[in-house]
Amino acid sequence: MKEEFTTNQFRHLGCENFDIPDDEKGYELDLFCVPKHYEEDLDRVIIPHGLIMDRTERLARDIVRDMGGHHIVALCVLKGGYKFFSDLLDYIKALNQNCDKSVPLTVDFIRLKSYCNDQSTNSVKVIGGDELSTLTGKNVLIVEDIVETGRTMETLLSLLSECNPKMVKVVSLLVKRTPRGSGYRPDYMGFEVPDWFLVGYALDYNEYFRDLGHICILNEKAKVKYKV
Ligand code: IMP
Ligand code: MG
Repeated sequence: MKEEFTTNQFRHLGCENFDIPDDEKGYELDLFCVPKHYEEDLDRVIIPHGLIMDRTERLARDIVRDMGGHHIVALCVLKGGYKFFSDLLDYIKALNQNCDKSVPLTVDFIRLKSYCNDQSTNSVKVIGGDELSTLTGKNVLIVEDIVETGRTMETLLSLLSECNPKMVKVVSLLVKRTPRGSGYRPDYMGFEVPDWFLVGYALDYNEYFRDLGHICILNEKAKVKYKV
């Protein structure tokens, strides 16, 4: 039987959930700055860039609290995780410079692919990155953009376990509430989001929209325009 965490159980683990509810309306595009080339493609802003940054700052604090004192290898899941990875590590670096407890950090990268258009496929492929065998005996923090079905993370965790790391923690900026989910929950998460396809802050639709600062909803016209 799969292990399922309710919001309350999650609280017992010391994690507050930041839920974006299913009836969230988000914000009009005109309230924020979005690149001119995407103005026609987006519906609403769901998570403004500033809020992403503020939540990331707190995740950095929680991670240092739990993992502080150990050397951490931060493993970035490319490409979608690169913005979150970079900002999270900046906040961890700031804490290292200003706290009594500090964490030596090194970085590694892995490239996985599981998506086509706005659909998760059944196959998760490793298509590049560093050798996972260098992670043997290390404390690894996997940094991911979004967990949807959980298949990508479960695949990566099982690949990683073959290399016998000392400890593995996972932080995902977003977790989608979806009936397609396997029940997998990361150790740390930024926001729990409705079952919508989201873009921006390095989340893409067929490689587009990584160069958008806020997390937004695509409109239907854009899904056709950028379809492969
Ligand atoms: P999972 O294997 O179904 O959990 O999917 C995880 C991967 O699919 C993420 O790492 C993303 O790359 C991609 N993905 C899932 N949902 C979205 C989305 O709403 N926007 C963009 N990419 C997504
Ligand atoms: Mg990803």
